This record gives sequence, C-alpha cells and structure tokens, in this order.
Amino acid sequence: MEEEKKAMFERIQELKRLRNAVILAHNYQIGEVQDVADFVGDSFELSQIASRSDADVIVFCGVYFMAETAAILAPEKIVLLPEILAGCSLADTITVESLREKKAQHKDAAVVTYINSPAVVKAESDICVTSSNALRVVNSLDEDEILFVPDMNLGSFIADKTKKRLILWEGCCETHHCVGPQHITNARETHPDAVVIVHPECRPEVVKAADYAFSTGGMIKFARETSCKKIIVGTEMGLIHRLEKENPDKQFFLLSQGLICPSMKFTNLDKVSKALETMQPRITVPLPIRDLARRPLERMLAVV
Ligand code: 13P
Repeated sequence: MEEEKKAMFERIQELKRLRNAVILAHNYQIGEVQDVADFVGDSFELSQIASRSDADVIVFCGVYFMAETAAILAPEKIVLLPEILAGCSLADTITVESLREKKAQHKDAAVVTYINSPAVVKAESDICVTSSNALRVVNSLDEDEILFVPDMNLGSFIADKTKKRLILWEGCCETHHCVGPQHITNARETHPDAVVIVHPECRPEVVKAADYAFSTGGMIKFARETSCKKIIVGTEMGLIHRLEKENPDKQFFLLSQGLICPSMKFTNLDKVSKALETMQPRITVPLPIRDLARRPLERMLAVV
C-alpha cells in the first residue's frame, strides 16, 4: 500500500513538471492530498496564491466555488478540479435571482458576499470576504448597512463585532451548523484542560461557548503559537491532519464526529493524477460573469 502511494506521489510530481502545474489543497482535504500539494491553506490564502501563481495549470483540490474563484482570478490559467461533483451546501443556499430580490429591498446596503458562493452571485456583489478577513472588510466599507450573504452564522459573528448594521441571509454550512453547545460541554468534561477553538460558520451559541473562533488558517496559527498542549477543534475533520503534522507535541480532539464535509473527501491521489493526465475536469467562468465577479474578489484582496 505504502509502495503504491509512493509510486502515485512520484507520478503526480512528474505530471506536475510536465504540465507546469501547481497543486493547491484546502485545509479540509484528506491527508494524502494535502501531502502531495504545493500549498495547503484556507480560502483566503489559496485565492491569493491562485491570483499570483506563475504556473500554467492550477489543480484545485477543494470544492467547486474554490476552483471557480481561481478561474476568475487567474483567467489565463487552466484550472482543474479533480472531482467535478465536489460542491458546497452553503454556496447552494443562494441564487442570483433571490439575491436580486433581497437587494431591491435594501437599496442602500453594500452587498458583502462570503467566498463560499457561486460566481454569478459574486458578480452581483460589492465585495467578497473569507472567514479570515470578514470583519476587516466589513469595517473598511463606507456604507453603514450591509447585506451579508449567504452564511448567517459568519454574519452573526461579524455583527457582534462591528458597528455596522448587518442584514443576514438564511444560509449555513450543513457541516458546521450541526454542532451544538452540548458538544462543547461534553468535550470540556472529557478534556478539562483543553482549549476550544471553533470556526465562525458554527452557530452563535457554539461560538459563545468556545474559547476562540478562527478561520482554518487562524486555527493553524493559533495551534502553532499557543502554549496549550490540548486543543478541541470545532471545524471539518480534515484540518486535524495538518494540525497534528505541524504540532507533534500537541494533542487535537475533534469537537464532534459529525464534522465531515462529504465533498471535501471526494478528491484523492488517483483523481489528482487523472486530472493532470487528461487536463479535465476544467473549470471556466464565462464572460461577462468572470469580469463582474473579479471586481469584488480583487477589492477583497486589496483590503489589508
Ligand atoms: P476557511 O477560509 O476558514 O478555510 O473556510 C473555508 C470553509 O469553507 C469553511 O467551511
């Protein structure tokens, strides 16, 4: 088995050189996909890398909206998503028609769109955010009223920390929304000396019961810097691989066994290798959506 995996790793490296490709993997990907990737990161870090990369091909090991974002930010590159069916339950909670209706009811509000959304929705937005920069982006805007879509939990998290008035969309991530405060109570009983970190896509009562809320990149940084040796992690299970790899002296416990995003598990080494061999499935965003969606993304990347 190990031999097989090693051969697959070598094959992928060879194809990568042949295609002048870069492999990006989100922090939720399975361990072996993270290990073969050139960069592993959160949504913000990966979109930054995609926009700056000088590779000809980007293999995006993540879900559809992530590859679509890379295709918008780097239109001259070939963007491959090894598993075309890897979607996002949160991105599916909003359509461009429903957003237009809401915009008509809140004409003065700035439309702030979480990166977990379809390109057509980004195209109708003023600015995008990720969980690592949402507060900074919202506070950077001139408008006092914000239509925040589509994640209501991230929206509540930001609403608690800003003076702006947020109108929330009723969307959520099925995986994070399944966690309740009882999971934190139980985990604290089992590991009384552990610190609890959760993703802001969790319900507000879960964020309140936790010690800290971070993007996945924020969790990686926290784990590296904290002197605490035991950490209860309230986000998708894939992050544990990187946390354990980078912090062998610390222990990590998943807050709930339900923290699995099925779409993030679709990608494996075989599919990465096939994508590089066949140069499929390729993700493209047609004009004019591509240009319209690029503006809010670039505006987000420019907020420091
Ligand atoms: P991060 O930007 O924190 O990696 O979040 C991505 C995501 O989709 C969370 O469910």
